[in-house]
Amino acid sequence: MSDATLRSDTLAPVPLVDLKAAHAEVADAVEAGWKRVIENTAFVLGPDVAAFEAEFAAYCGVRRCVGVANGTDALELALRALDIGPGDEVVLPANTFIATALAVLRAGAKPVLADCDDERRPTMRRRIEKVQRRSVRQREDEEARAVSG
Ligand SMILES: Cc1ncc(COP(=O)(O)O)c(C=O)c1O
Repeated sequence: MSDATLRSDTLAPVPLVDLKAAHAEVADAVEAGWKRVIENTAFVLGPDVAAFEAEFAAYCGVRRCVGVANGTDALELALRALDIGPGDEVVLPANTFIATALAVLRAGAKPVLADCDDERRPTMRRRIEKVQRRSVRQREDEEARAVSG
């Protein structure tokens, strides 16, 4: 028996994500919610989104919550709220999901990937320090240019 045969006989595939168990816990509430949304044809915003925003804000102990379409939009809005855009660099862990880098690009900034495993953690720190030094230098150059007219 070859190694390949042995492996396929004994190893069960491990699904990347198995949401069945998590969904089972909330299936009734989700289905009732979908039914309500469809009946109200409230596919964008509407009373359910408003109720979610109010409940989630209360849960987080903050005044407001803004519902968005997906995680990429949430990251992009967070970056824009921090005034991150063209000319800025954002250091990301190299093993992140592509959406993280796309949000940085959509905000107009440049994603900079850094290794983040335990052995290479200093690489991430060095990368952040390098980006910070470059950013300080750029700001000083801009200020010097502004002063010299
Ligand atoms: C690390 C990371 N960033 C961002 C996202 C946002 O993804 P989406 O826009 O599909 O919600 C995901 C989704 O899996 C993610 O894993």
